[in-house]
Amino acid sequence: MKIFQHVSDIGDLGAALAEAQEVKRDRFQWQHLGRNKTALLIFFNNSLRTRLSTQKAAMNLGMNVIVLDVNQGAWKLETERGVIMDGDKSEHLLEAIPVMGSYCDIIGVRSFARFENRQDDYEERILQQFIRYSGRPVFFMESATVHPLQAFADLITIEEHKATARPKVVMTWAPHPKALPQAVPNSFAEWMLAADVDFVVTHPEGYELDPQFVAGARVEYDQMRAFEGADFVYAKNWSCPGVTRPADYGRVLDDYHTMMDWTVSARQMAVTNDAHFLHCLPVRRNMIVTDDIIEGPRSLVIPEAANREISAQVVLKRMLEAL
Ligand code: CP
Repeated sequence: MKIFQHVSDIGDLGAALAEAQEVKRDRFQWQHLGRNKTALLIFFNNSLRTRLSTQKAAMNLGMNVIVLDVNQGAWKLETERGVIMDGDKSEHLLEAIPVMGSYCDIIGVRSFARFENRQDDYEERILQQFIRYSGRPVFFMESATVHPLQAFADLITIEEHKATARPKVVMTWAPHPKALPQAVPNSFAEWMLAADVDFVVTHPEGYELDPQFVAGARVEYDQMRAFEGADFVYAKNWSCPGVTRPADYGRVLDDYHTMMDWTVSARQMAVTNDAHFLHCLPVRRNMIVTDDIIEGPRSLVIPEAANREISAQVVLKRMLEAL
C-alpha cells in the first residue's frame, strides 16, 4: 500500500478485518518488518488518539518514530505557489516536504479543512502535495475530507460487537458550538457503505454530505425515525458541507441552542435495538451526547479508541510490506 486515504485503498474489507484480529492476537509478531525503518508523523493540528495510537502501532512493528508538530517549533510554512514570501512564513511546503521525506520511510499527515475555500479542501491540496513531493508512502491521519484510520477502527469495533450479521448503523448529526470539518462523517459513511451493514444517516436539512462519500446511503431527516431499531448509533457534528449552497461551506447553520434536541440521549436510544453508542472522541458531553449514554453499558467509545492502534498497525504493516 502506497497511499491510505479511501476505503478502496485497504482492498477487501473481510481480509482487512481478519488482519486486524491477527494483529490483536499478537501485535509484536512483525517487529522485523520495521527494523531500521522510520515513520514520520506530521501534525498541522492537535491530536491525542491519532498521535498516541499511531506511534504505538509503529513501535509495535519495530519502527523508529519521529513526531513533528508543525506549529510548535518548525518554521511557519507557506503552502501557496507564487506568493512573495515577505510575511511570517519562512519556508515553503515545496522544500519542506522532500526534506521531510528524506528522513523517513513512511509519512503520516494530519491537516484539517481550513474552510477558506471548499475546492481547496475537497481537492486535498496539502495532502496531495505530500503524495507528490515526499517520495514516500503517505497515510492520512485526518485530512480536510477524510479520517480513514478512524473509520477503519470504527468498523473493527462494530464487527467485534455486532449481534446480527447485518446490523443497522445510524450516523447522526449532533450539535456543537464550533464549526467542525466533515472528515469523520465522510469517512464513516464511505466505510459503512463498503461494509455489510444497513446504513442510515440523519441530520438537519442543509447538512447534506458530499455525494462522493454518501451516495447510496439512506438519509432520514427525522432523527427519531432514523434511530428506530438501530444496533449502533454513531454521533458526530459536522459543519455545512456546502453541497446544495457552496456559500454555506464550513458554516454552523443554526444557533446550537436551538438544536439541542439532536443531542443523543435516553429519549432517542429508547427506540433503538438497545444500540451501542460510538463516537470518535474527543466529545463535548451534553452537546453531542448526554453523560448517562456515554458512561452507560452500551457505550463503546473506549474500545473504539483502543482500536485506533489496531487500524494504524494494519495500515503501517501493509506499507512496510510494500516498501
Ligand atoms: N479521534 C481522533 O482522531 O482523535 P484525536 O483528534 O485526538 O487524534
